[in-house]
Amino acid sequence: MQSNLLSKLHVGIIMDGNGRWAQARGLSRGRGHEAGVETVQQVVEAAVDQGIGTLSLYAFSSDNWRRPSAEVALLMRLLSRYLRSEVAKLVENGVRLKVIGRRDRLPGGMAAEITRAETATASGTKLDLRIAIDYSGRDAILQAASRISCPDDLTRDGFARLITGELEARDVDLLIRTSGEQRLSDFMLWECAYAELYFTDCLWPDFGPAQLQAALQEFSRRDRRFGALVASTAA
Ligand code: FPP
Repeated sequence: MQSNLLSKLHVGIIMDGNGRWAQARGLSRGRGHEAGVETVQQVVEAAVDQGIGTLSLYAFSSDNWRRPSAEVALLMRLLSRYLRSEVAKLVENGVRLKVIGRRDRLPGGMAAEITRAETATASGTKLDLRIAIDYSGRDAILQAASRISCPDDLTRDGFARLITGELEARDVDLLIRTSGEQRLSDFMLWECAYAELYFTDCLWPDFGPAQLQAALQEFSRRDRRFGALVASTAA
């Protein structure tokens, strides 16, 4: 894809299959999540190299609190460690990090770590990286609805700004889900209204730069009409 198109692209990824990857190797689910973090590091670097504008990663859904407490605790530790240990590399690579989702239920100190990482990376201009933690797309819409002050004046763009907290909210162009599952699982429901969906059987720890490239190639072959007709069929 042309680099000027990639720089406007918003890619979302539902990272799935860490548990099955570990199980297939006789390892603990925790080892699968650790391998998943390594994939995150590679894919973020690949996104920078490819010139993608925005990358949104679904790391922990609001429904993931229902997992066993030991697994939840491990995921929170891995996320905390990532926020602490990756900042220097993110800054070096020109990545601006933003964490989306609720912060009030996160373990002690994590909200402050998030703020520190966001502040340290705020001047990054190459890639906008969003990591969704304690995130629910439906809750994001509900919260935005509760903030509407003049319903009659509301536009789609205005509502998108309320949902995302961004001045220039970007829709997701390409949504990737790994591990063969084919559902949205409450991820960026508003932003995915016209997302091209790309499902791959590849388990998240096996995903990497080559698989990202394959997804982008498939995306470039899609015919995006946004409800209109292709030019050649229009009367
Ligand atoms: C889904 O696999 C994965 C998760 C719920 C967690 C995703 C987290 C990471 C990749 C690591 C931390 C992320 C960052 C951004 C540092 P699963 O456990 O549901 O796998 P399964 O469906 O095979 O059981």
